[in-house]
Amino acid sequence: MKIPSFTLSRQVAVIGPEIEKAIAQVIASGQFVLGSSVQQFETDVAQVVGSPHAIGVANGSDALYLALMALGIGPGDEVITTPFTFFATAGSILRTGAKPVFTDIQLDTFNMDPDLALARVTPRTRAMLPVHLFGLMADMSSLSRFTGPIVEDAAQAIGANVDGRAAGTMGAMGCFSFFPTKNLGAFGDAGLVTTNDVDLASRLKVLRVHGAQKKYYHETLGINSRLDALQAAILSVKVPYLAAWTERRIQLAERYTKGLLDLGMKEVIPPYVPKGYRHVFHQYTIRADQRDALQAALKEAGIGSTVYYPTSLHLQPVFAELGYGPSDFPNSEKAESSVLSLPMFPELEDHEVDRVIEAVGNFYGYHA
Ligand SMILES: Cc1ncc(COP(=O)(O)O)c(C=O)c1O
Repeated sequence: MKIPSFTLSRQVAVIGPEIEKAIAQVIASGQFVLGSSVQQFETDVAQVVGSPHAIGVANGSDALYLALMALGIGPGDEVITTPFTFFATAGSILRTGAKPVFTDIQLDTFNMDPDLALARVTPRTRAMLPVHLFGLMADMSSLSRFTGPIVEDAAQAIGANVDGRAAGTMGAMGCFSFFPTKNLGAFGDAGLVTTNDVDLASRLKVLRVHGAQKKYYHETLGINSRLDALQAAILSVKVPYLAAWTERRIQLAERYTKGLLDLGMKEVIPPYVPKGYRHVFHQYTIRADQRDALQAALKEAGIGSTVYYPTSLHLQPVFAELGYGPSDFPNSEKAESSVLSLPMFPELEDHEVDRVIEAVGNFYGYHA
């Protein structure tokens, strides 16, 4: 039996009929863009995250771009971010015309190192854009020594918190993605921005509809980034399940970590969860010696795994003009060559986790 690194089919087998009903309702309503199902989903997420304002947008990449636009960030400005993330984080900065300034991560959390980030602040720095990677929040309280706005890339971190303070509520804005593989996933693209600030909220609502507060009257340049009503309705069906799915992810992660540590391997380092943090395990990502050979051995054993992310952003051709080179961010480069995300989704079974642990142990010659 194969163990996929991710699958939606087990989830669809349970909630498929409910989703089909929600889709039928949207079709009957005839309202496919924004409208009442989007408003309902915005209210749902505001509640889940604990944020007064939630603005649905087309995808997580636009959520980031619109957040930076709402701050008025553009050419001549600098935004500090991490090189160890999905492309869209830094891509959103480039889309505004501003300059992404990369700063290294902490190897144990894979998140932005606050001291290094603060050392990169210049008079041009207009914002910081930390990522809560794999579902673990960045060190927001240290980062908040920065006096400017912090935009949280919370794409992978819905439900995460630190000392009870939730992802998407600690910065000026929180940006979420509901890409199908996310902890809360649509059946297509969807995204959302949360904020505590009523002015930013109203700016975001205007920016997502071509900068028009009143229809066909455009005061500022916005974009078309409206949340699709079908996606919103599908997501609202899933919201009541999210808490239990997240708990299950955490349980599975604990099983992985205990099993891997019990084997006494020095070649594998399980994910680190600092005290006070609720990691929601969008990914369960280990650091492993001979990562590529381990991945090949797992594949041979019918076990899927994924490398997030194989190339740090400062080494991507699209950012070449920024002038970064190899060894600029040693921790990010160490991470890219050692990380491996093991199967993780709420419907994964305990015995499947045990098989993955066994296969990892077998590769290095450790047995329970
Ligand atoms: C960290 C991070 N930022 C941004 C995004 C972009 O979100 P989307 O794919 O919804 O545009 C994603 C997800 O793909 C992500 O993982």
